[in-house]
Amino acid sequence: MKLWGGRFSKETDELVEEFHSSITFDKRLYKEDIEGSIAHGTMLVATGIISQEEGEAIVRGLKELLVEIEARTVKFTPGAEDIHMNIETLLTEKIGEPGKKLHTGRSRNDQVATDLKLFAKNEGQEILNLLKGLLDTIITISSGNLDTVMPGYTHLQKAQPITFAHHMMAYFEMFKRDYGRIEDALKRADTSPLGSGALAGTTFPLDREMTKSLLGFKYVSLNSLDGVSDRDYVIEMESACAIIMVHLSRICEEVILWSSDEFQFATLDDAYSTGSSIMPQKKNPDVAELVRGKSGRVFGHLMATLTMLKGLPLAYNKDMQEDKEGFFDTIDTIKKSLLTMTPMLLTMKVNKEVMEKGAAGGFTNATDVADYLAKKGIPFREAHHITGELVAKCLMEKRTLESLSLEEFKEYSTVFDNDIYEAIALLTCVNERKSIGGPAKEQVEKHIAISKKWLLTL
Ligand code: ARG
Repeated sequence: MKLWGGRFSKETDELVEEFHSSITFDKRLYKEDIEGSIAHGTMLVATGIISQEEGEAIVRGLKELLVEIEARTVKFTPGAEDIHMNIETLLTEKIGEPGKKLHTGRSRNDQVATDLKLFAKNEGQEILNLLKGLLDTIITISSGNLDTVMPGYTHLQKAQPITFAHHMMAYFEMFKRDYGRIEDALKRADTSPLGSGALAGTTFPLDREMTKSLLGFKYVSLNSLDGVSDRDYVIEMESACAIIMVHLSRICEEVILWSSDEFQFATLDDAYSTGSSIMPQKKNPDVAELVRGKSGRVFGHLMATLTMLKGLPLAYNKDMQEDKEGFFDTIDTIKKSLLTMTPMLLTMKVNKEVMEKGAAGGFTNATDVADYLAKKGIPFREAHHITGELVAKCLMEKRTLESLSLEEFKEYSTVFDNDIYEAIALLTCVNERKSIGGPAKEQVEKHIAISKKWLLTL
């Protein structure tokens, strides 16, 4: 018999039973469900809605169930639909009559909303910890590469020289914003929906403040319709995760490029790369490719939740059961991606000489020639043109700007002097870019110092 079977005269069709049952995936919420039920049961005693003995039996039974579920000695059944009714059924089998009183003043609608929010809060905290690990790693890598000159790119064409530390610290900023986004989502997720009932609260004198505190929420939700039908926190977490995947995917793309034979900027540790079944020479950046590839499913889950929710009338609708699988997969994907990416980056060997050689080619100091002329009073537009002509000459003669003799320079502008060579030396190009946020060693050191301080506040 179904827990809700009273008004029905027929069994549910077998296909329907399978179709609407969610136990195969929402069993993952067993811990949160038991935690919520213990809080609810405890409150029912405190408010005199059930007796002390009944409450004690409920709490004891739930605690035993938790142990049994973790030891896998109990079986969930699809007939009991979801984790909420499975646990209630198992509890009643275990403790008898008091089990039937647990659901007093509660609905599965506020129950599932509570469970999923507790889950989101726990997982959000774990994502924050993993992000912190990645941020720490970026600091370590950057600190060791303050003098590693590399070409900076725009349009994937060599543009101006930077350092590897400067490059990695760009990712620090991205993942720092991601940290803030998860934190922010968690702040808004900190309201307890428990006590919202099916949609319109309850006639029982529930103590919502008490269950809120027992469950570690900061606030109680202030509207029962919103309490049961709010899934903003799922959308916010999924969207913050989608942005994390964008960032991970971008760094993955760079790692893949860097470890190619064409670039050779970096070598992945053998533990974080894989081979080919046919080509004996191959060492593939599979981890980076997989993380890049997994971004698709995370974006997809966000779109699915947005679409599922957008036309729903208030309050709860069964459509909302569709919130879970994508959310779970999002959390799993983000956690696994962060977990593997962090050591992959930490163990990656940076080929400093190759990077520096790369920075020396491609006329990355051309802007500095133009800046040199502009500093000597030539209007920048004109300086840009003169430098362009010099680049054209070098391209034709297969030479670099710094290989030109002073006489050759002077043919293009008389303001050129011997100090041009110092002005366009690679290290000058990097270390004279001292504007805040620039690649100059002193600036990157400052950025690292500020970032380390911030990490200490987490
Ligand atoms: N399994 C449902 C879900 O995940 C629980 C709430 C069901 N409520 C209901 N009245 N059918 O959303």
